[in-house]
Amino acid sequence: MSSNEASPIGIKTLDEALGGGLFKGSLTLLEGPTGSGKTILSALFLYYGAAVVGEKGIYASLSLSKKFFYSYLKTVNMDFEELERKNLFRFLQFPTVVSKDALKEMVELMLMEFIEFKSERLVIDPINPLLTILSKIELRAAVHNVLKKYLERYEITGIIVADTAKGRLDPAYREIEFLSDIVLLMHSKVVNDNRVFRVYILKYRGHEIKKHIVEFTIKDIAQVNY
Ligand SMILES: Nc1ncnc2c1ncn2[C@@H]1O[C@H](COP(=O)(O)OP(=O)(O)OP(=O)(O)O)[C@@H](O)[C@H]1O
Ligand SMILES: [Mg+2]
Repeated sequence: MSSNEASPIGIKTLDEALGGGLFKGSLTLLEGPTGSGKTILSALFLYYGAAVVGEKGIYASLSLSKKFFYSYLKTVNMDFEELERKNLFRFLQFPTVVSKDALKEMVELMLMEFIEFKSERLVIDPINPLLTILSKIELRAAVHNVLKKYLERYEITGIIVADTAKGRLDPAYREIEFLSDIVLLMHSKVVNDNRVFRVYILKYRGHEIKKHIVEFTIKDIAQVNY
């Protein structure tokens, strides 16, 4: 795979393990328990993409507010306000939806925003509220017929984040792993007062996985060169 077909995340060791990054137009499932680093890693994917690679990004939040997200990521040297000013980044805040109609409206709004903004990277964090609204077949249709098709057609590299109780997604929702091109599982632990993040590359469809486990620290994230 040549590097221009990959969307690097910004952590050198992780990108090397992935053969350059996440391939363009792919869908990645990033799963793991609370505090395992999912938001920080997916934010880095957008920040590095915009600030270094020059690829516009959108963060669709189903949890954190824009204010909290911006000040949270500033603690690890990602200034999303500046990216927004340069028209390289947009934050979309979605309310918790309780009906399928409201969800449909929300998805349509999101897709329109992408088309207009010409985003090349997308993060939806987290998808859990959607899991409770949709039946298994509806979830499959939403991921397979809408999201994946859209990412492929417009060559947008997408990450969907899933909060899990312990390790991987509940077996009832495991189909999302099959539908995703890439599956990354995160864990974190504190070693000598340093938080160490561990990413297991569970699947990379059609690509060689050069290394299956990659570790990095909060310092590695904070010291990325933009
Ligand atoms: N500036 C910082 N310095 C040190 N540790 C930090 C800093 N920012 C975040 N962390 C730690 O990094 C960890 C990962 O945070 P992150 O928000 O990415 O987790 P998450 O997997 O998205 O969790 P959740 O499921 O609750 O959304 C947290 O445990 C947090 O304490
Ligand atoms: Mg999070």
